[in-house]
Amino acid sequence: MRCAIARCEGREERPTADDLLRRVVAECTARNPDEVRVRHTLRRPATAEIPHGPPIHVSIAHSAGWVAVAADLDDPIGIDVEPRDRRVIDPARLAQRFFHLDDTAWLRSQPDQNVAFLQLWTMKESIGKLRGIGLQGGALAARNFGTPNRVCGSSALRPTAEPSLFHGTLLTADWVLSVAAPRRTRMWLTRAVH
Ligand SMILES: CC(C)(COP(=O)(O)OP(=O)(O)OC[C@H]1O[C@@H](n2cnc3c(N)ncnc32)[C@H](O)[C@@H]1OP(=O)(O)O)[C@@H](O)C(=O)NCCC(=O)NCCS
Repeated sequence: MRCAIARCEGREERPTADDLLRRVVAECTARNPDEVRVRHTLRRPATAEIPHGPPIHVSIAHSAGWVAVAADLDDPIGIDVEPRDRRVIDPARLAQRFFHLDDTAWLRSQPDQNVAFLQLWTMKESIGKLRGIGLQGGALAARNFGTPNRVCGSSALRPTAEPSLFHGTLLTADWVLSVAAPRRTRMWLTRAVH
Protein backbone atom coordinates (compact mmCIF):
# COMPACT_ATOMS: atom_id res chain seq x y z
CA MET A 1 0.00 0.00 0.00
CA ARG A 2 1.33 3.42 -0.95
CA CYS A 3 0.19 6.43 1.07
CA ALA A 4 0.87 10.15 0.96
CA ILE A 5 -0.02 13.06 3.21
CA ALA A 6 0.19 16.79 2.55
CA ARG A 7 -0.84 20.05 4.18
CA CYS A 8 -3.29 22.17 2.24
CA GLU A 9 -5.79 25.03 2.54
CA GLY A 10 -9.53 24.21 2.50
CA ARG A 11 -10.12 25.24 -1.12
CA GLU A 12 -7.16 23.18 -2.24
CA GLU A 13 -8.30 19.90 -0.67
CA ARG A 14 -9.79 18.30 -3.78
CA PRO A 15 -6.95 19.25 -6.20
CA THR A 16 -4.35 18.28 -3.59
CA ALA A 17 -6.02 14.90 -3.02
CA ASP A 18 -6.21 14.28 -6.76
CA ASP A 19 -2.60 15.22 -7.25
CA LEU A 20 -1.43 12.98 -4.39
CA LEU A 21 -3.57 10.11 -5.65
CA ARG A 22 -2.17 10.40 -9.16
CA ARG A 23 1.32 10.26 -7.66
CA VAL A 24 0.76 7.18 -5.46
CA VAL A 25 -1.17 5.32 -8.16
CA ALA A 26 1.63 6.09 -10.64
CA GLU A 27 4.15 4.67 -8.13
CA CYS A 28 2.08 1.49 -7.66
CA THR A 29 1.72 0.91 -11.38
CA ALA A 30 4.99 2.34 -12.75
CA ARG A 31 2.96 4.63 -15.01
CA ASN A 32 2.89 8.37 -15.54
CA PRO A 33 0.73 10.42 -13.09
CA ASP A 34 -0.89 12.15 -16.08
CA GLU A 35 -2.44 8.84 -17.10
CA VAL A 36 -4.36 8.44 -13.82
CA ARG A 37 -8.02 9.54 -13.78
CA VAL A 38 -9.54 10.30 -10.38
CA ARG A 39 -13.30 10.49 -9.76
CA HIS A 40 -15.24 11.57 -6.69
CA THR A 41 -18.85 10.66 -5.97
CA LEU A 42 -20.87 12.08 -3.09
CA ARG A 43 -20.83 9.74 -0.05
CA ARG A 44 -18.92 7.07 -1.98
CA PRO A 45 -15.21 6.25 -2.06
CA ALA A 46 -13.21 8.09 -4.71
CA THR A 47 -11.97 5.93 -7.60
CA ALA A 48 -8.82 6.07 -9.72
CA GLU A 49 -8.13 4.33 -12.99
CA ILE A 50 -5.56 4.09 -15.73
CA PRO A 51 -7.04 3.38 -19.16
CA HIS A 52 -6.06 -0.21 -20.06
CA GLY A 53 -4.27 -0.45 -16.69
CA PRO A 54 -4.88 -2.77 -13.72
CA PRO A 55 -7.75 -2.10 -11.28
CA ILE A 56 -6.61 0.07 -8.37
CA HIS A 57 -8.07 0.47 -4.89
CA VAL A 58 -7.82 3.96 -3.36
CA SER A 59 -8.95 5.81 -0.25
CA ILE A 60 -8.97 9.52 0.64
CA ALA A 61 -9.23 11.51 3.87
CA HIS A 62 -9.20 15.23 4.53
CA SER A 63 -9.37 17.01 7.85
CA ALA A 64 -8.57 20.58 8.91
CA GLY A 65 -5.84 21.32 6.41
CA TRP A 66 -4.48 17.80 5.91
CA VAL A 67 -5.10 15.48 2.97
CA ALA A 68 -4.09 11.81 3.06
CA VAL A 69 -4.47 9.20 0.33
CA ALA A 70 -3.75 5.49 -0.08
CA ALA A 71 -3.58 3.17 -3.10
CA ASP A 72 -3.19 -0.59 -3.44
CA LEU A 73 -3.25 -2.92 -6.43
CA ASP A 74 -4.48 -6.01 -4.59
CA ASP A 75 -7.04 -5.16 -1.93
CA PRO A 76 -9.52 -2.51 -0.80
CA ILE A 77 -7.98 -0.20 1.80
CA GLY A 78 -9.05 2.60 4.11
CA ILE A 79 -7.30 5.75 5.36
CA ASP A 80 -8.24 8.48 7.82
CA VAL A 81 -6.44 11.50 9.25
CA GLU A 82 -7.01 14.03 12.03
CA PRO A 83 -4.83 16.97 13.07
CA ARG A 84 -3.06 16.04 16.29
CA ASP A 85 -4.10 19.28 17.96
CA ARG A 86 -7.83 18.66 17.37
CA ARG A 87 -9.44 19.15 20.80
CA VAL A 88 -12.03 16.59 21.85
CA ILE A 89 -14.21 17.73 24.75
CA ASP A 90 -14.08 15.10 27.50
CA PRO A 91 -12.66 12.20 25.44
CA ALA A 92 -13.25 9.56 28.15
CA ARG A 93 -16.94 10.46 28.40
CA LEU A 94 -17.38 10.48 24.62
CA ALA A 95 -15.61 7.14 24.35
CA GLN A 96 -17.79 5.67 27.09
CA ARG A 97 -20.88 6.79 25.22
CA PHE A 98 -19.93 5.67 21.70
CA PHE A 99 -17.02 3.22 21.81
CA HIS A 100 -16.59 -0.34 23.07
CA LEU A 101 -15.88 -0.88 26.80
CA ASP A 102 -12.35 -2.11 26.02
CA ASP A 103 -11.68 1.02 23.93
CA THR A 104 -12.66 3.19 26.87
CA ALA A 105 -10.49 1.19 29.29
CA TRP A 106 -7.51 1.55 26.93
CA LEU A 107 -8.14 5.28 26.45
CA ARG A 108 -8.30 5.85 30.22
CA SER A 109 -4.91 4.14 30.60
CA GLN A 110 -3.24 6.48 28.09
CA PRO A 111 -1.20 9.52 29.16
CA ASP A 112 -2.83 11.72 26.50
CA GLN A 113 -6.53 10.84 26.26
CA ASN A 114 -7.16 13.40 23.53
CA VAL A 115 -4.63 11.74 21.22
CA ALA A 116 -5.86 8.28 22.27
CA PHE A 117 -9.38 9.28 21.20
CA LEU A 118 -8.08 10.45 17.81
CA GLN A 119 -6.24 7.13 17.41
CA LEU A 120 -9.43 5.16 18.06
CA TRP A 121 -11.51 7.46 15.88
CA THR A 122 -9.19 7.32 12.87
CA MET A 123 -8.80 3.56 13.32
CA LYS A 124 -12.56 3.03 13.13
CA GLU A 125 -12.95 5.47 10.23
CA SER A 126 -10.21 3.73 8.25
CA ILE A 127 -11.93 0.37 8.82
CA GLY A 128 -15.27 1.84 7.75
CA LYS A 129 -13.68 3.14 4.57
CA LEU A 130 -11.92 -0.16 3.85
CA ARG A 131 -15.32 -1.84 4.02
CA GLY A 132 -16.90 0.93 1.94
CA ILE A 133 -19.66 1.40 4.49
CA GLY A 134 -18.58 4.49 6.39
CA LEU A 135 -19.55 4.20 10.04
CA GLN A 136 -23.07 2.78 9.72
CA GLY A 137 -24.67 5.18 12.17
CA GLY A 138 -22.29 4.39 15.03
CA ALA A 139 -22.22 0.57 14.71
CA LEU A 140 -18.52 0.49 13.84
CA ALA A 141 -17.70 2.93 16.64
CA ALA A 142 -19.14 0.48 19.19
CA ARG A 143 -17.15 -2.51 17.84
CA ASN A 144 -13.97 -3.67 19.54
CA PHE A 145 -11.12 -3.95 17.03
CA GLY A 146 -8.43 -4.07 19.73
CA THR A 147 -5.81 -1.50 20.64
CA PRO A 148 -4.69 0.89 17.87
CA ASN A 149 -1.41 -0.49 16.50
CA ARG A 150 1.37 2.10 16.32
CA VAL A 151 3.51 1.69 13.18
CA CYS A 152 6.05 3.82 11.34
CA GLY A 153 5.95 5.03 7.76
CA SER A 154 7.34 1.90 6.10
CA SER A 155 6.18 -0.99 8.25
CA ALA A 156 3.65 -3.79 7.97
CA LEU A 157 0.16 -3.36 9.37
CA ARG A 158 -0.70 -5.45 12.46
CA PRO A 159 -3.65 -7.75 13.13
CA THR A 160 -6.74 -6.38 14.88
CA ALA A 161 -9.17 -8.26 17.10
CA GLU A 162 -11.07 -9.30 13.95
CA PRO A 163 -9.74 -11.93 11.56
CA SER A 164 -8.70 -10.63 8.14
CA LEU A 165 -8.42 -7.08 9.35
CA PHE A 166 -5.08 -5.32 9.76
CA HIS A 167 -4.43 -1.83 10.94
CA GLY A 168 -1.72 0.74 11.66
CA THR A 169 -1.67 4.19 13.24
CA LEU A 170 1.08 6.75 12.69
CA LEU A 171 1.47 9.62 15.14
CA THR A 172 3.50 12.74 14.46
CA ALA A 173 3.56 16.17 16.07
CA ASP A 174 1.12 17.31 13.36
CA TRP A 175 -1.36 14.52 12.69
CA VAL A 176 -2.80 11.12 13.58
CA LEU A 177 -3.16 8.83 10.55
CA SER A 178 -4.72 5.36 10.38
CA VAL A 179 -4.81 2.81 7.58
CA ALA A 180 -6.66 -0.50 7.35
CA ALA A 181 -6.31 -3.46 5.00
CA PRO A 182 -7.54 -7.08 4.83
CA ARG A 183 -3.95 -8.43 4.85
CA ARG A 184 -0.59 -7.83 6.56
CA THR A 185 0.28 -5.26 3.90
CA ARG A 186 3.39 -3.12 4.16
CA MET A 187 2.69 0.58 3.91
CA TRP A 188 4.95 3.20 2.32
CA LEU A 189 4.25 6.77 3.33
CA THR A 190 5.38 9.87 1.48
CA ARG A 191 5.15 13.25 3.18
CA ALA A 192 4.54 15.52 0.25
CA VAL A 193 5.24 19.23 0.17
CA HIS A 194 2.49 20.98 -1.69
C1 LIG B 1 -18.22 9.34 4.98
C2 LIG B 1 -17.10 8.70 5.76
C3 LIG B 1 -16.52 7.58 4.94
C4 LIG B 1 -15.96 9.69 6.14
O1 LIG B 1 -16.30 10.99 6.09
P1 LIG B 1 -15.50 12.18 6.77
O2 LIG B 1 -14.79 11.75 8.01
O3 LIG B 1 -16.49 13.25 6.90
O4 LIG B 1 -14.43 12.65 5.68
P2 LIG B 1 -12.96 12.15 5.27
O5 LIG B 1 -12.27 13.34 4.71
O6 LIG B 1 -12.26 11.40 6.34
O7 LIG B 1 -13.23 11.15 4.07
C5 LIG B 1 -13.90 11.60 2.91
C6 LIG B 1 -13.59 10.65 1.76
O8 LIG B 1 -14.02 9.34 2.10
C7 LIG B 1 -14.45 8.68 0.90
N1 LIG B 1 -15.73 8.03 1.17
C8 LIG B 1 -16.95 8.57 1.24
N2 LIG B 1 -17.85 7.62 1.53
C9 LIG B 1 -17.17 6.45 1.67
C10 LIG B 1 -17.56 5.12 1.95
N3 LIG B 1 -18.82 4.77 2.20
N4 LIG B 1 -16.58 4.17 2.00
C11 LIG B 1 -15.29 4.50 1.78
N5 LIG B 1 -14.86 5.76 1.49
C12 LIG B 1 -15.81 6.72 1.44
C13 LIG B 1 -14.56 9.72 -0.22
O9 LIG B 1 -13.52 9.49 -1.16
C14 LIG B 1 -14.36 11.03 0.53
O10 LIG B 1 -13.57 11.97 -0.16
P3 LIG B 1 -14.10 12.73 -1.49
O11 LIG B 1 -15.52 13.10 -1.20
O12 LIG B 1 -13.20 13.90 -1.66
O13 LIG B 1 -13.97 11.72 -2.60
C15 LIG B 1 -17.66 7.96 6.97
O14 LIG B 1 -16.63 7.49 7.77
C16 LIG B 1 -18.69 8.64 7.82
O15 LIG B 1 -19.86 8.32 7.69
N6 LIG B 1 -18.32 9.55 8.70
C17 LIG B 1 -19.26 10.25 9.58
C18 LIG B 1 -18.56 10.78 10.82
C19 LIG B 1 -18.70 9.83 12.01
O16 LIG B 1 -19.76 9.39 12.38
N7 LIG B 1 -17.55 9.48 12.65
C20 LIG B 1 -17.50 8.58 13.80
C21 LIG B 1 -16.08 8.09 14.04
S1 LIG B 1 -16.00 6.79 15.29
